[in-house]
Amino acid sequence: MKILFIGDVVGSPGRDMITEHIKQLKQEYKPTVTIINGENAAHGKGITEKIYKGFLAQGAQMVTLGNHTWDKREIFSFIDDATSLVRPANYPEGTPGVGYRIININQVKLAVINLLGRTFMNPVNCPFQKADDILEEIDGQADVIFVDFHAETTSEKQAMGWYLDGRVSAVIGTHTHVQTADERILPGGTAFLSDVGMTGPLDGILGMDRQAVLHKFLTSLPAKFEVAEGKRQLNACLITINDKTHKATQLSRITRTDEQVIY
Ligand code: FE2
Repeated sequence: MKILFIGDVVGSPGRDMITEHIKQLKQEYKPTVTIINGENAAHGKGITEKIYKGFLAQGAQMVTLGNHTWDKREIFSFIDDATSLVRPANYPEGTPGVGYRIININQVKLAVINLLGRTFMNPVNCPFQKADDILEEIDGQADVIFVDFHAETTSEKQAMGWYLDGRVSAVIGTHTHVQTADERILPGGTAFLSDVGMTGPLDGILGMDRQAVLHKFLTSLPAKFEVAEGKRQLNACLITINDKTHKATQLSRITRTDEQVIY
């Protein structure tokens, strides 16, 4: 199985990048399944039903979320019927939506789990304990397990990678919007990447318009952040998983930009 995971889609520039590149990405990488983190897809914060359905229509099989899950109020009207959408699992009991889903892809049962970090983030239940609970709950029901760990710090993300090594097929970080270069297969066969990066504006600051962010840094005054315009980027990764052992064998980072960037 090959999983194409596209990182945090930010606003219409991010959605347009998906529209423009997804066909070519699928042709080139031939993923068995495509997962998109869409928590910033609606103007940088949250997701709407139209956007969620748009991702599915474009060939995603699952959409994951994060700390901006509830930012668009209409989420409450469709999350319980959205069978290809997962929100962070470690919210309190009774929270709308679900934190993981198991889907059948070519006779392979794939579990997609979304977890939220706690370091420098709003308080939620322990993501490590929640991961344990879910793995116990789905024991024997899933062949391949993919975890989108939406967290701020590389330390918490690395901790999750090591904690779940050998127990899931992949732990891929989201949320910080900057792709990290630490992709590896951990000794137990878990593909790990601290952050897959974002899909949206290239020349903003984490996708937001530079002027407002700079104003906030320079004056310490509140500022209204808008999604940046101009050149764009797409960041993703491809995880190859052995169909018999369900361990990851390869993890590659993917980046597309509107124009050649000098790194
Ligand atoms: Fe986030």
